[in-house]
Amino acid sequence: MPAAVFQGLFIASVSLLFIAMAFFIWAIIEPYILKIEYVRMFHRKEYAPFERLSKDSSSSSVQKNPDLRIAFFSDLHGRGCRIKPNKLCDALVSSAPDIIVFGGDICQRGKSIEPGLNYLRYIANRASQLGIPCFAVRGNHDVLINSADFDSHGFHLLVNETVIVKSKQSKDYLIIGMDDSGRKPRIYPTLPALPEDIPPKRRIAVVHNPDYIYTVGKNDFLSMLSGHLHGGQIYLPFKLEYRLLRGDRLPMEGVNRGFFERNGIRGYISRGCGCVLFPLRLFSKPEVSIVDFDDDSEEENGG
Ligand SMILES: [Fe+2]
Repeated sequence: MPAAVFQGLFIASVSLLFIAMAFFIWAIIEPYILKIEYVRMFHRKEYAPFERLSKDSSSSSVQKNPDLRIAFFSDLHGRGCRIKPNKLCDALVSSAPDIIVFGGDICQRGKSIEPGLNYLRYIANRASQLGIPCFAVRGNHDVLINSADFDSHGFHLLVNETVIVKSKQSKDYLIIGMDDSGRKPRIYPTLPALPEDIPPKRRIAVVHNPDYIYTVGKNDFLSMLSGHLHGGQIYLPFKLEYRLLRGDRLPMEGVNRGFFERNGIRGYISRGCGCVLFPLRLFSKPEVSIVDFDDDSEEENGG
């Protein structure tokens, strides 16, 4: 082999090695970097249907007084979460939400539930001092964790049930918490009875796996919050992380984070806070979502 070709191959190999090492080091660091996403789902007529707002809560594009603000987080995965409880808690309460909602996956495969529950207790204690109620739904890793576990750590678990939350304009919003069977194939529960006097635009479903969107009728609710997909967690080209490890439908259709719309329903998928399988994240930073809802209709309730 000519010396020049050998030299070229050597340089290319060393470069590739350095690039791979840089990605690997970044994947170790990224689980410690929490990002707050400010998003708006249903809101006043003058805005687009939904949008990602500024990264900075002091920006004028982030409303100072939304009708309903939900601080949403998901996918702690116990020790798989590298964000310190106080940092996570600060991110959740700093925007003065009306409620805090956890979107499921406390632990990894039902094992070692205490670290995840301790996060919930820490957050709930602080929220309680501020008068912010906390709710949760289970994820596919949580099937062995019961309502008493959640309630004793300050989060009220919604198992295919609803709770009414009063907004700043004294309008009723319906939070619909749907359970996760955790089985393969996953069995999606049917919706509970929904009160007629709260319109679909003020019904917000919280369900761990966003594929749930394919199982519901168009006018049951119009907004949905989910987690589960970790934004891919470790980015691989050609969606390999989903082709190899998961059988979910939305990622195969190109959706693994952020906003999406199916069947007339608007959803938002959090990237989650922790890591599963490996304590690594690549191009999918841990997330707390501050989600604003507005309703400019005149009626008190109904309509
Ligand atoms: Fe998860």
